[in-house]
Amino acid sequence: MRIVLAYSGGLDTSVALPGLAERYQAEIIAVTLDLGQEKALAGVRQRALDTGAIRAHVLDVREEFAQGYILPALKADAIYEDRYPLATALGRPLIARRLVEIAEMEQATAIAHGCTGKGNDQVRLDVSVRALNPSLEVIAPARLWQMTRPDEIAYARARGITVPATVDSPYSTDSNLWGRSIECGVLEDPWKEPPEEIYALTASPQACPDDPAQVEIDFACGVPVRLNGVEMPLIELIESLTLIAGTHGVGRIDMVENRLVGIKSREIYEAPAAHVLHLAHRELQKLVTPRDLERVARDLSVRYADLVYNGLWFTPLREALDAFFERVQARVTGTVRLTLFKGACRIVGRRSPMALYEHALATYDAGDIFDHRAAEGFISLWGLPVALAARRVPIERHAPAVPAAIR
Ligand code: ARG
Repeated sequence: MRIVLAYSGGLDTSVALPGLAERYQAEIIAVTLDLGQEKALAGVRQRALDTGAIRAHVLDVREEFAQGYILPALKADAIYEDRYPLATALGRPLIARRLVEIAEMEQATAIAHGCTGKGNDQVRLDVSVRALNPSLEVIAPARLWQMTRPDEIAYARARGITVPATVDSPYSTDSNLWGRSIECGVLEDPWKEPPEEIYALTASPQACPDDPAQVEIDFACGVPVRLNGVEMPLIELIESLTLIAGTHGVGRIDMVENRLVGIKSREIYEAPAAHVLHLAHRELQKLVTPRDLERVARDLSVRYADLVYNGLWFTPLREALDAFFERVQARVTGTVRLTLFKGACRIVGRRSPMALYEHALATYDAGDIFDHRAAEGFISLWGLPVALAARRVPIERHAPAVPAAIR
C-alpha cells in the first residue's frame, strides 16, 4: 500500500509518518506545501526522508493560493462570523487538491493528514478529497490513535526522530499568506487577555509608531493591483501590507467562534493584510454597487464564508457564487485610502470612475440637482400601505411589554 501524507515536519506528522508505515505496511510519500507560512521549509524534505518517507515533495503553491483561493474570497467579502478572514479554511481545499493529484501520480490509494477529530480542518480535507477522487481512502492518525503529546515525544525519541523545539510551546498555530491562528494554553479561557508573546505578525499598541501611516489601495475589477501607487503582484502586495499593517498593530482578532463540529472555541488570529484588504474592498464595492445588488451581495457573502469554513469549497454552490461575485466585480475599480494607527484601521477616502455617488445629487450646497418636489409624491405612495394597515388595526404606540419570565 502507498500513502500520501500531508507532512509539515512538526511533531504530529513526524510521528504519523513511521506510524503509518508500520501499521499499514505502507510506503509513505510526504508532501509539504508552501502556502506562505512563516515556518522555514528548508530541511523539511530531508527530515521526511530521514523519518522514513520513500519520497518527499515540497511545492510552492503560493501563487495558486493567492489567485485561486484568497482572491475569490476577497471578491466575495467572505469573513466568517463577522471577523475571521478564513486563512486556514481557504488553504485546506488547495492542500487537498495537491494531495489528490500527487496520490494519482504516485498511484497511492490513501491520503493521510495530521488533523484531530475535533477541528474543522479534518472536515475540509476529507470532504475535499471525496469531491475530487472518492476512491481515495483518507487516514487521520491523530483521530484514530489519539496519542497524547508525551506519548508522541516518547514514540519519536524511541525511533531516533528529533523532536522539534516548538513542542515546548503551549500554543497550536497555523499560518499562511492570508493570516495566522493561535489556539490552546491560556487562550482556552475566553476571559483571559492573550499574552503578548503569542503574536508574530502584529505589534502591540504600545510598540506601534507614534505617527499614523496612510495606505492607498487601487483595485481593478475587484483585484488589488497597486499599493501606495506601486503596481505589484498579489503575493507581494499581501506580503507588503502584512508588514505595514502589522507594524501598526492592525489585524488582531480575538473571537469565540462556532466550529462545524458543534463546539464554540476561542480563537486568536493575526491577519493584517486580510483585514485591510477586506475593509478596502467592501468600501469600494459599496461606492459602485447599486443598493439592491449590494444587499444581495452582502447576504451571499455570509453564505460564501460559511461554505468555505464548513469545507464545501468543491461544490456547485461555490462555483455559482463565484460567478455571481465575479459579475459584481466588473464595477469594483478605484482607490481606497486608509489610516493605520496603533492597532486601528480607518477608511478615510474612496474614489472610483464607476462611483454611483453623484455630488450634484448629494450636495446641500449650490449646484443641487435633486428634485425636492418629487419627494412629496414618492413619500405619498411609499407610505400608502402603512396608512392602509394602520387604518384597519390601530398601531401600538408603546414599546412591547417584556414577558414576566424574562424580566
Ligand atoms: N479555527 C480556525 C479554522 O477553523 C483555525 C484553525 C487552525 N488550524 C490548525 N490546524 N491549527 O479555520
